[in-house]
Amino acid sequence: MIDELQIQRFLDDGAFTMDTPISMDRITAAAEALDRLLPQKEGRNRSSLTCNYDDPALIDLIQDPFFEQVSCQLLDSKAVYFFQTAIITAFPQPGVEFGFDQHVDLQYTLTDLEASPRRVTSIFFLWLSDVALDQAPMMYRPGSHRPLAAHWETQAELKGEIPRIIGIKLADLPELDYAEPQPLLAKAGQASVLTTGMVHGASVHTGDLPRKVLVITFHAADVTIGLPEVQEIAKREYDATLRKALPQERRHIVRPI
Ligand SMILES: [Fe+2]
Repeated sequence: MIDELQIQRFLDDGAFTMDTPISMDRITAAAEALDRLLPQKEGRNRSSLTCNYDDPALIDLIQDPFFEQVSCQLLDSKAVYFFQTAIITAFPQPGVEFGFDQHVDLQYTLTDLEASPRRVTSIFFLWLSDVALDQAPMMYRPGSHRPLAAHWETQAELKGEIPRIIGIKLADLPELDYAEPQPLLAKAGQASVLTTGMVHGASVHTGDLPRKVLVITFHAADVTIGLPEVQEIAKREYDATLRKALPQERRHIVRPI
């Protein structure tokens, strides 16, 4: 599935892009599902949904054994469970100067990252359209999750609270020696794997065509990742939806009740 070098890039850089075995027909079907589910709202340049869709073209990708198997490798775990999913369409923003957001979404320690199984999530950004420099690439600071994880490790009040999902803007993060931001580029059908404990964020879409992505997240079966209450409720409801929608032989990716 993936090799040791790619696993090392996940640990050190926090991101890499890879080919997937997903056919372009399946990618096109999912892109069409986003067209149906995520119309552009007036005055908005992004549309998104989290854990609340059951379109067969999207379920078909979420359940693909490829993401489960790569997650087992990334998280050094024999078994993994589905965690969350999101769909996002970024629409062109004519006349807007390039710029980008910077934040983290996941808080963990270096011990969590280096544990076996790893106490972090594996996240796939499965690109449903090309991502060039002018197509709202995600921007990220390679390796920035490591000094942050080392810092979180020193914060006594976080003991027992993390790993957890929590959005923190760059301005509220400790002033550490972060690498310069880089764009994450890809072709439709490729997946970018990253850890959102790294400083990253969405950028302005300076091109012409909507950019679409399906996000799929897993965690090691024996590891609990904390969620804000609203997300936890939505996730539990979505687990039930998935259990019903998945074929019997794929249901094991959803954590049992
Ligand atoms: Fe994020």
